[in-house]
Amino acid sequence: MTSSDHAEPSASTTYKRLLSYIKPFKKQFAYAIAGMIGYAITEASFAALMKPLLDGSFVEQDRQAILLVPIIIILIFVVRGVAGFASTYYMSWIGWSVIKQLRKEVFNKYLTLPTQFYDNASSGELISRITFNSQRVAQAASTTLTIMVRDSLTAIGLLALMFYQSWQLSLCFLIIGPIIGLIVDRVSRQFRAVSRNIQDSMGEVSHVIQEAVDGSRVIKIFGGQETEENQFELVNERNREFNMRETAIRALNVPVIQMLVAIALAIIVYVASSGGITDRLSVGEFMSFVTAMLLLFQPLRRLTSLNSQIQNGIAAGETLFATLDLASEQDLGTQTLLKPINTIEYKNVGLQYIHDKPAVLNNVSLNINAGETVAFVGESGSGKTSLVNLLPRLYEMNEGEILINGVPITDYTLASLRESIAYVSQDVMLFNESIANNIAYGSASAVDEATLIEACKTAHAHDFIMQFPDQYETMVGENGVMLSGGQRQRVAIARAILKNAPILVLDEATSALDTESERKVQEGLEALMQTRTTLVVAHRLSTIERANMIVVMDKGNVVETGTHTELMASDTHYRRLHQLHSDKP
Ligand SMILES: Nc1ncnc2c1ncn2[C@@H]1O[C@H](COP(=O)(O)OP(=O)(O)O)[C@@H](O)[C@H]1O
Ligand SMILES: [Mg+2]
Repeated sequence: MTSSDHAEPSASTTYKRLLSYIKPFKKQFAYAIAGMIGYAITEASFAALMKPLLDGSFVEQDRQAILLVPIIIILIFVVRGVAGFASTYYMSWIGWSVIKQLRKEVFNKYLTLPTQFYDNASSGELISRITFNSQRVAQAASTTLTIMVRDSLTAIGLLALMFYQSWQLSLCFLIIGPIIGLIVDRVSRQFRAVSRNIQDSMGEVSHVIQEAVDGSRVIKIFGGQETEENQFELVNERNREFNMRETAIRALNVPVIQMLVAIALAIIVYVASSGGITDRLSVGEFMSFVTAMLLLFQPLRRLTSLNSQIQNGIAAGETLFATLDLASEQDLGTQTLLKPINTIEYKNVGLQYIHDKPAVLNNVSLNINAGETVAFVGESGSGKTSLVNLLPRLYEMNEGEILINGVPITDYTLASLRESIAYVSQDVMLFNESIANNIAYGSASAVDEATLIEACKTAHAHDFIMQFPDQYETMVGENGVMLSGGQRQRVAIARAILKNAPILVLDEATSALDTESERKVQEGLEALMQTRTTLVVAHRLSTIERANMIVVMDKGNVVETGTHTELMASDTHYRRLHQLHSDKP
């Protein structure tokens, strides 16, 4: 594994890091805060208005109050509307900007993680982290800020009003309030665990879907529908369960709090109306107090859910930040690898993918000179692909070193190293794009048509491409499903030819072609190989008889090297492999 053991970050560190994403949006944040303040003030003003409304307009029939109160009511709601809009709009503005930023960072991280990371990861889960976790994180951040600012200001305003109307009743309320708080806190403690479970199970759901979509052909042919159905049922049900558990905890809050509110209200009404304890209150003062108290419960409830909201964000944030903190590919080299390539040297190279499994390459040493073609042969699993993968640093070797022009490849910048290598891998990967775009993939400048066609002719791909109705604009489908295996390979070869790099690596690049097509592609490639240093993993031994050097691999070891003629001269591994091949029809 490439991920090192991180010490579990503390909740507050995670939350601070989360808030740091909001920092760049100071202006929008100021607008949102202004809106929240305005909103909080209107809440308190509305409760305060009860006194002139009842005492002035109704009881005393004060002409001025009768005119003013309705106007103030409208004013309050205009301000409240504008302020409410501003706070929601700008908080949401910040929220989505943060989501975008987080997605961008995680996506860019995915582009730089070591190949090995992807060997061990589920792509469904990686996708879910970008789509789901980032959203949850940002929502939590903006919701908690809204609660912290708007609801706490509202609560302060309403409490101040209550004390102004009757401090004795307010004290009564203050005794009951914390009890409510304690009960709610109990419940919200369970949130963090449940919330993390929900995320993990979302990842599982995506993972199963993704495999079912990608593996649709295998599933059909091997009758895997039932297995997949069952597997999906399992994760789907688990996701439902976790969500229901969260809902239950959330929903339990409501009746419990309402009960407590009712009790509080009953006590206050009793205390106020029985007299003695409090000064006599006018109808307006009492209604103003009760209105404030009732308006207070909503922000208080949200304030008590603050913790669960924060926990939500932290749970989602932890996974996200853990991803962002993974080590990217090492790119510490400072030299730029320039043409021409004079030598490539493998020096006692050892490779072990998994820590306590046997090594895949042992003590491999090779010397390759400019313009040479070196062919690798050996049984499947003997380490040929692993050997050539080390050159563009798709994996890092555990022992030894590889030198190009006498300099360790780790001393070159990754970009310049990879720039110098055109690679046709064993499993061709095509993007769901047009053939032209697939072939020109990664070219910095626009590719002119003549060059593109030239590359395709060399790869013996031009003829079949021209037979499609859309020719070079033909869409190849997800991972190139619209093309045959042999066509895909020729597109990949054209892509490598177009890259025009001094080092060419071909890993069983023509394995899916019939002998006739292979021979044609081979002819095209041979002209190319004259001017390049080529590493070729051979699928058919007949294709490499002209190689400058043949490297025979067995169980991760180089067992023989030499030209075809040299190796055939004695009783070698190579000769046995050759005989096996020639026996085949
Ligand atoms: N990404 C990987 N992670 C772990 N083991 C791997 C990986 N790739 C290849 N291997 C193992 O390394 C060995 C050599 O594989 P490979 O280099 O692909 O051989 P070849 O190309 O000669 O068929 C095999 O035993 C294979 O199981
Ligand atoms: Mg291979």
